[in-house]
Amino acid sequence: MATSNTSAGSDLNIILTGFMGTGKTSVARELAHLLGRRVIDLDTEIEKSAGMSITEIFRKFGEPWFRDLETRTARENARKKPAAIISTGGGVVLRSENMEALRESGIVFCLQATPETILKRTSSNNERPLLHVEDPLGRIRDMLSARAPFYSVCDSMIDTEGKSPRQIAEEILEKFWPLAEKRPSSR
Ligand code: S3P
Repeated sequence: MATSNTSAGSDLNIILTGFMGTGKTSVARELAHLLGRRVIDLDTEIEKSAGMSITEIFRKFGEPWFRDLETRTARENARKKPAAIISTGGGVVLRSENMEALRESGIVFCLQATPETILKRTSSNNERPLLHVEDPLGRIRDMLSARAPFYSVCDSMIDTEGKSPRQIAEEILEKFWPLAEKRPSSR
């Protein structure tokens, strides 16, 4: 397992994105534990700066307002906090400016799971306003196909099916250091 902190890449963020319910938060915690880095959870930062939950933000101000705040939060955190684990909301990929800022600050991993697994993981709580619909599985399938081209710009895709957060974190680290080596700015 490649957890060592070599000089190449040691200042780069590890950024986790991927659809809702793909395990970004738990994997971010594992990575932080393995590397002794801090976690920046962009949804938590958004909630802090708005002073309310994501569900309330969507209800009171709507999705476009949320997306603007998400962009500000992604850009600010990508810039000011080097060598962190950044966990994003699943829709951060929708704006190219978000992805440019995040990719410039580190390596972006996209966690993937099947629609059924996503449904199972997201139905345990009521925190995803975009899935508050009659047919959440149908919505998940539609959103996954609509977002596939956006997720494809990530540096690396990680299949999470049947793996524990620890196994996923280890797989990410195996890929992180070689990808970091290829970044001219990290040498
Ligand atoms: C969203 C994902 C959510 C949150 C918001 C919108 C999306 O984060 O940012 O509800 O558009 O996919 P998680 O992916 O952490 O659930």
